[in-house]
Amino acid sequence: MREVELEIIENKKVSKDIYFMRLKGDISEVKNSGEFINITLPSHYLRRPISVNNFEGDHLDILFKVLGLGTKDMASLQIGHKLNCLVGLGNGFNLNYNITPVLVAGGIGIAPFSKVISLYNEHNIKPILVYGARSKDDIVILDEFKEKTDLHICTDDGSLGFKGNVIELIKHDNINMEYYYACGPYIMLKNLAKEYPNGEVSLEARMGCGFGACMGCSIKTSNGPKRVCKEGPVFKASEVEF
Ligand SMILES: Cc1cc2nc3c(=O)[nH]c(=O)nc-3n(C[C@H](O)[C@H](O)[C@H](O)COP(=O)(O)OP(=O)(O)OC[C@H]3O[C@@H](n4cnc5c(N)ncnc54)[C@H](O)[C@@H]3O)c2cc1C
Ligand code: FES
Repeated sequence: MREVELEIIENKKVSKDIYFMRLKGDISEVKNSGEFINITLPSHYLRRPISVNNFEGDHLDILFKVLGLGTKDMASLQIGHKLNCLVGLGNGFNLNYNITPVLVAGGIGIAPFSKVISLYNEHNIKPILVYGARSKDDIVILDEFKEKTDLHICTDDGSLGFKGNVIELIKHDNINMEYYYACGPYIMLKNLAKEYPNGEVSLEARMGCGFGACMGCSIKTSNGPKRVCKEGPVFKASEVEF
């Protein structure tokens, strides 16, 4: 973990309430896809944890959804603004290049998958992406999702793709769930883990410190309590006691 100042070099709306931000600076501590950063915002006491969407060289990208005051303020930050961030937090996905994995994303749970997709592409593997959201306005189609994956989309209201949830789509399209990586709402991860124990889920929790010191983000697992910020946010689906 390292505390760094990252400069905003891009901050743009990419869908209803969803923003793409590119941050430049020393990101040498960022190692794995599925890690997160913890951002200090002007006028907010607690940092905001956000997944690393992609990282390369001297910059990293995040995708965030405006939910409350903190993310609303983030959306209005201008290019050139510097953010104090803790980087290199969390464990990340255990990527296995011997299989074609299924990436399951619910809503803003798409955020950690850009880097995962490019790493698989470098190994000449096109991952299967099952991407669900409430409606088409909640879907972000970045180029890498369209061109570099076998993309399956669903929405609850049927406004884009299959009408239904990700599990219904997996069954409808007969997708081979040999191994999957998932990120999204708690209920989606819970139902996915129940149906398909063979995968990894990225969890969210309300965080205090964000680096393992306060125990505020503990969850129950079959191997005892674990901290989402330190032993997670990625866990084996089979070990989480939802
Ligand atoms: C490991 C991890 C990765 C995440 N990655 C992303 C991402 O890539 N994109 C994205 O849009 N969101 C992500 N989130 C959720 C994001 O942290 C919250 O949406 C955000 O903190 C809300 O802040 P707010 O001030 O707008 O909302 P408010 O509700 O006003 O926040 C009040 C307080 O609650 C905390 N909080 C609220 N919702 C959450 C939440 N779901 N998880 C943790 N803390 C929360 C805030 O940090 C803040 O301290 C992630 C959360 C975690 C734990
Ligand atoms: S947020 Fe403090 S231990 Fe996880």
